[in-house]
Amino acid sequence: MNTPLDALWMPFTANREFKLAPRLLSRAEGMHYQTPQGRLVLDGTAGLWCVNAGHARPRITEAIARQAAEMDYAPPFQMGHPLAFELARRLVELTPEGLNRVFFTNSGSESVETALKIALAYHRLRGEAQRTRLIGRERGYHGVNFAGTAVGGIGGNRKLFGSSVGGVDHLRHTHDLGRNAFSRGQPEHGAEFADDLERLVALHDASTIAAVIVEPMAGSTGALMAPKGYLERLRALCDRHGILLIFDEVITGFGRLGAPFAAQHHGVKPDLMTLAKGLTNGCVPMGAVVVRQSIHDAFMQGPASAIELPHGYTYSGHPLACAAALATLDVYAEEGLLTRAARMHPVLEAALHSLRGLPHVIDIRNTGLVGAVEFEPREGAAGRRAFEVFQACFEAGVLVRATGDNVALSPPLIVSESQIGQIVDTLRQAILRLH
Ligand SMILES: Cc1ncc(COP(=O)(O)O)c(C=O)c1O
Repeated sequence: MNTPLDALWMPFTANREFKLAPRLLSRAEGMHYQTPQGRLVLDGTAGLWCVNAGHARPRITEAIARQAAEMDYAPPFQMGHPLAFELARRLVELTPEGLNRVFFTNSGSESVETALKIALAYHRLRGEAQRTRLIGRERGYHGVNFAGTAVGGIGGNRKLFGSSVGGVDHLRHTHDLGRNAFSRGQPEHGAEFADDLERLVALHDASTIAAVIVEPMAGSTGALMAPKGYLERLRALCDRHGILLIFDEVITGFGRLGAPFAAQHHGVKPDLMTLAKGLTNGCVPMGAVVVRQSIHDAFMQGPASAIELPHGYTYSGHPLACAAALATLDVYAEEGLLTRAARMHPVLEAALHSLRGLPHVIDIRNTGLVGAVEFEPREGAAGRRAFEVFQACFEAGVLVRATGDNVALSPPLIVSESQIGQIVDTLRQAILRLH
């Protein structure tokens, strides 16, 4: 590529290091990317946890092209178009029973902001306007907008910005290497971490707390599975104290853990859920918030001529995104992809845990079609081992994701057994070269 690279300020990227040795992708199909030089790279990360059905599925790309020609855009405020209604209807056939009202956004970050605003407004409408506190969890990632950054639990994502959203507190994270290292599926220990909510209730009083937001599986900080019993306990405590429970299912939604949503995988129903990524197979930006009907109905009071929720985006329910999402849901249904990760779980588990005992490997985790290998941090260079493994794998033709001292895997849900073997073999070779 001859284009100079300096004009682009890249997101969540070490810009200077990257531009010295760029890693570029220029084509994609099925399970593979291609570099501009024509080198094939097996996608071990579904892009960025989003291309769940694999790349360039004709059904999806053709639906987008058709829609672009038929109607490129329609305003979503005080106007509608049929695909948005159809998509909402199709979505609530998949979501847990009772979570059946859908608000469209354009990203996971916007879904988080939207869900938190709905939570605050809901309490206000019910005469509990003092419930303004938002509770997140350490090592949580909820996107990059102001409230998402505030409830997020990644110190590095917050330190440059201060906290301009007040009234936020955090549960402790659940990553307990001492007791749970090399867990297969959900870790045995740690349900009691949910009791942190009782401590925060004692500290702040329940009457000040609007909502708790957690990822059912913390994806961005290294695929941290919820310990057995943890989500159930959190649900019970939220119920006891009248606090809304929000599951951020931006990563776990659309089949990643082996059920359409983590809520179903774990048998725990949140009050609101945030979605994005796999909703359109990553083809067109789109997010959604799905809420319990009674939350939606609390807004449907007063004169019918009033706008009930003064919130929305120019591109909420964009026609191209709706077309992509509807075609994506068709592909998921026809190929049984939303439950395929449950069948592939043992395959990934056996392959990944064969890396146990390699130098520097201090933990291996897996569930559904998610896996992670954690490395002992190199003295004075935290995160470098995972980054070097990511680089070596890319050079050897496999895309994995480095985050902190973890390498995470989340291949498209169409991945074959032999491709899982290729990913793990490539990882093994890369790990063996670490110092
Ligand atoms: C759990 C979770 N929430 C929110 C987001 C933010 O989504 P987006 O990057 O689409 O804004 C992400 C992105 O990785 C995520 O993993």
